[in-house]
Amino acid sequence: MRTHVDFLVIGSGIAGLTFALKAAEKGKVCIVTKKKMDDTATSYAQGGIAAVMYTPDTFEKHIFDTIQAGDGLCDENIVRITIGESTDRIAELIAWGANFDKDETGHYDLAKEGGHSEYRVLRHKDSTGREIEDTLIEQVRRHPNIEVLENYYAIDLITQHHLGIHVSIRTTDLTCYGVYVLNPKTSMVDTILAKVTLVATGGAGNIYSNTTNPTISTGDGIAMVYRAKGVIENMEFVQFHPTALFHPQERPSFLITEALRGFGAVLKDYRGNEFMHKYDERLSLAPRDIVARAIDNELKISGEDFVHLDCRHLKKEDLIRQFPRIYAKCLSLGIDISRDFIPVVPAAHYFCGGIKTDEYGRATIRNLYASGECACTGLHGANRLASNSLLESVVFSHRASQHAIEQLPLIDFCNAIPDWNAEGMVLTEEMILITQSQKELQAIMSSYVGIVRSDLRLQRALDRLNLLYEETEALYNKSILSPRLSELRNMINAAYLVIKHAAVRKENRGLHYSLDYSQKTER
Ligand code: FAD
Ligand code: SIN
Repeated sequence: MRTHVDFLVIGSGIAGLTFALKAAEKGKVCIVTKKKMDDTATSYAQGGIAAVMYTPDTFEKHIFDTIQAGDGLCDENIVRITIGESTDRIAELIAWGANFDKDETGHYDLAKEGGHSEYRVLRHKDSTGREIEDTLIEQVRRHPNIEVLENYYAIDLITQHHLGIHVSIRTTDLTCYGVYVLNPKTSMVDTILAKVTLVATGGAGNIYSNTTNPTISTGDGIAMVYRAKGVIENMEFVQFHPTALFHPQERPSFLITEALRGFGAVLKDYRGNEFMHKYDERLSLAPRDIVARAIDNELKISGEDFVHLDCRHLKKEDLIRQFPRIYAKCLSLGIDISRDFIPVVPAAHYFCGGIKTDEYGRATIRNLYASGECACTGLHGANRLASNSLLESVVFSHRASQHAIEQLPLIDFCNAIPDWNAEGMVLTEEMILITQSQKELQAIMSSYVGIVRSDLRLQRALDRLNLLYEETEALYNKSILSPRLSELRNMINAAYLVIKHAAVRKENRGLHYSLDYSQKTER
């Protein structure tokens, strides 16, 4: 099948839905999403969305904290844009129907997380992402200009390459004409031609064994843009959340929000002693890179599998009121957080890098935009400040939509694009070939490209990844397409980019820490 739309949105998390709602005011929008609409990392977000709301907080303080966390690599212009527009974008979410917690005086009850100097995180108990996702979905479902294709899997962006024009270098002359998608009803590949395409496919946590990310986070958008020869940057900066619940049988790992530490919970070692004073004066609320590395170090010294988070000194009623989901989850595993330690361990959580975009969310390919976790706007630099990603998504989806609306009258469809060629392909019946390769990939990345790296570990990772790459490409080239195989291929692409970018960073900065380099480069 072949269809034409003004705006094509790949992904139904906060970034995709926000863009869709705004673009739909001026044209027809089609959202393609590979599972059910709410199967997104957005739905999992707990802590909240950062924004400057009241004094004594100021834009300057939020800007300072963001740049401080980013360890010298934030783009200050982008930081200023994001934080300067934060309050307007929050007002819009509230107008769409999102409910954030208020105190008894009617003011928003703001939380504090690691690296924030003020209370500035708006939340909906410990289910902020779910509240935002549900609100946006309700608006999208009502909009007459938006069509949603659930369970449609985007395979590849369509560019000049598909016209038979050989594009050999990473050039600014590329144009995106839409996307090839796998139609679940026919099992055929459809061609969706679009004037404007937004990639909003989220992160890639599943390239690691332990991740807080849902199974949809397989780096598809980043890999698609990379294959289309768009620029990808900062992939070495993978954020590990310090406190995922230690429960090895469960994937994804259940998050214990940093807001719980902001509320007073304290990290302790296996003996029940505090240890963060050895690493940072901000103790359990130091920025994530520092806390995750501290825990990693404590675990290496003790040989234990987890450290503890202690909430026993906090009031049980407050814990139940503010963190009902965490309370219930832990209780279901026999842990009463008002009486027992919570076992926690770091897990891959967020990709600071991704598709390079400018201040209007434009990728380096014409008529292509990216927003949300798959994008690299320059906001996070080498380390993201907690709760800045939901904010980044609404700010840049807004900016991208306004820019794309202006461009729309100047863009034509490219009808010369051929349909997908599936000749000579056979069904891959051996799922084991895919699942085992995925496990191997996750083991390679967790062992060699985790919180602490070295040149030798990165080289080892690359050598082993090369074999997986060759085997997977061979399988892909002869098989009938399946989302699982395509996801594996994308994860291998994303892992390759993490390793390659890590290998060229000959310093320790933000989330990238190597045993071979003790110094940062001055800038
Ligand atoms: P997602 O919400 O992940 O959406 C991606 C969408 O793309 C999905 O609909 C998916 O199905 C679709 N997709 C992917 N590939 C394809 C394909 N090939 N074809 C079609 N569709 C595709 N950030 C904060 O700021 N505050 C928090 O409190 C917070 N807490 C978090 C807690 C957890 C447990 C996790 C995992 C993350 C948290 N984050 C938080 C990070 C934040 O949730 C994400 O960065 C953000 O939600 C990403 O939104 P997104 O729209 O970019 O992507
Ligand atoms: C959390 O709630 O700890 C996660 C916040 C984030 O990742 O921004």
